[in-house]
Amino acid sequence: MEDLEQLDELLTCRLELGRKAVEPCTIVIFGASGDLTARKLIPAFYHLYREKQLPSPFRIIGFARREKTVEGWRQELRAALDQFSRTKPVDDAVWAEFAANVSYCQGDITDAGSYKKLANQLAAFDNERLRRNLLFYLATSPSQFGQVVEHLHHTGLLQKEDGAAREQRLVVEKPFGHDLSTAQQLNAELTRFAREQQIFRIDHYLGKETVQNILMFRFSNSIFEQLWNRQSVDHVQITVSEKLGVGSRGGYYEEAGALRDMVQNHLLQVLALVAMEPPVSLEAESIRDEKVKLLKSIRPMQPGQIAANVVRGQYTAGEIDGQPRPAYRHEPKVKPDSTVETYVAMRLLIDNWRWSNIPFYLRTGKNLPLSASEVRVQFRRTPHVLFALQCGSRLDANAITLRLQPNEGISLRFNGKVPGNSVEIRPVRMHFSYDSEFGAYTPEAYERLLLEAVSGDATLFIRRDEVETAWSIVDPIREVWGDRPLSGKEFYPAGTWGPVAADELLAQRGHAWRHPQPVT
Ligand SMILES: NC(=O)c1ccc[n+]([C@@H]2O[C@H](COP(=O)([O-])OP(=O)(O)OC[C@H]3O[C@@H](n4cnc5c(N)ncnc54)[C@H](OP(=O)(O)O)[C@@H]3O)[C@@H](O)[C@H]2O)c1
Repeated sequence: MEDLEQLDELLTCRLELGRKAVEPCTIVIFGASGDLTARKLIPAFYHLYREKQLPSPFRIIGFARREKTVEGWRQELRAALDQFSRTKPVDDAVWAEFAANVSYCQGDITDAGSYKKLANQLAAFDNERLRRNLLFYLATSPSQFGQVVEHLHHTGLLQKEDGAAREQRLVVEKPFGHDLSTAQQLNAELTRFAREQQIFRIDHYLGKETVQNILMFRFSNSIFEQLWNRQSVDHVQITVSEKLGVGSRGGYYEEAGALRDMVQNHLLQVLALVAMEPPVSLEAESIRDEKVKLLKSIRPMQPGQIAANVVRGQYTAGEIDGQPRPAYRHEPKVKPDSTVETYVAMRLLIDNWRWSNIPFYLRTGKNLPLSASEVRVQFRRTPHVLFALQCGSRLDANAITLRLQPNEGISLRFNGKVPGNSVEIRPVRMHFSYDSEFGAYTPEAYERLLLEAVSGDATLFIRRDEVETAWSIVDPIREVWGDRPLSGKEFYPAGTWGPVAADELLAQRGHAWRHPQPVT
């Protein structure tokens, strides 16, 4: 056993050895008194520091309107860390060392004078790299991004010139627009004063270990890669299900809906990783080129084709784990006759050589029986020769499930003989679990993403053309739905797997949803 482990260790290929060393860097967080900073950003930076992954030296400057002293802000962050840290208790000594690098700049995003103040704070650092290697994290409303970059530019803190690209970077938070035209407008505002290479659009989903593993799994295992095409695959199901309803986020959700909130970003990102062609290298641009190429190969739907290929749903009252759940229309801040979708299922076809005519089914919804994200690749059946007579369609086809969360892992489903004197065949499952193989290692997605942004690697961030292509896929669907009332088949009780119309969508081609199963 020990020998085997040593062999595995020898065969471990550390791709990160080629990664650029992180250089001394100052991170400026706009929106530093907000929820995201306290809940995600500072806990992530603290853990990176604890694991000695931040550059030395580094500085963090928080920028927000509220009056605070540096010491007051540090205390607030410490209290938030006690609450939100993934490791507890917080290590006092590590925190003290970390916090010594954190300071505050009170200012207003709309006020040019505030940026001068920020520039003065930066100029006071004695390390040249801390003054020039700058990461601006825009944790504010997207409507303020344009102003921030303009002021940073006029203050000389953000330069667009070629050589500056690696020196100053902008990290921007979702949402990247509300539709194609607002996304284009936002991108135009950002690129007035920064090159595309300086912009890091963050989608925390891409920071998840298992999402990154999709590429490693596909391209480092020849047995699977050879099956990853229309000759072997019957169809693919991508499910992102949530057990929670919209709860207190009704106001936001009324503007968004499941299509904008989940499909435009998370589901299309996962689809791109599952279906893209091998990139020519592991460079960020090569990977992103292939993702965009895949998104562009998705067959566009004419308005008349949308009803046959896309299903929306909205939850009515129901029950989950014995607890009653209200109907969406009875949630706070939701219109009593709202037509906003809390569920979407769609069939997409990818017009390229590899996937011609293979359906990709995507679905997501709220108030479903289980929270899970998974990709199920359903293979074709064997020819009906040996077992057809007795088993018929009961003989299940093989499937690989990539479980993204929870209980991250990979399952392979195949048929085996039931032991005994009778001849019975039934599906069995081989399961690889991350936790059992590697131990429970669950860094927050933000840790990985922040580290990549600090080191200037854009692989896990979304490029402008990815965002805009994704909007051009979902916008026509939104337009057709408009304010059209929902039909009876589009409602589903909370605690079920979605509306009847979603089952019918798959039944059209003889398919059926395979729901995520709890892994014990
Ligand atoms: N929270 C999350 O988990 C999460 C997740 C994904 C994406 N996001 C996105 O991240 C961004 C920030 O979210 P959040 O939840 O942290 O928002 P938030 O709690 O409302 O915080 C907004 C921040 O912006 C600052 N701000 C607003 N106007 C300002 C101005 N004129 N000048 C200077 N500072 C100003 C506020 O500072 P003062 O209050 O001191 O003025 C506050 O620090 C949003 O775009 C959101 O959509 C958030």
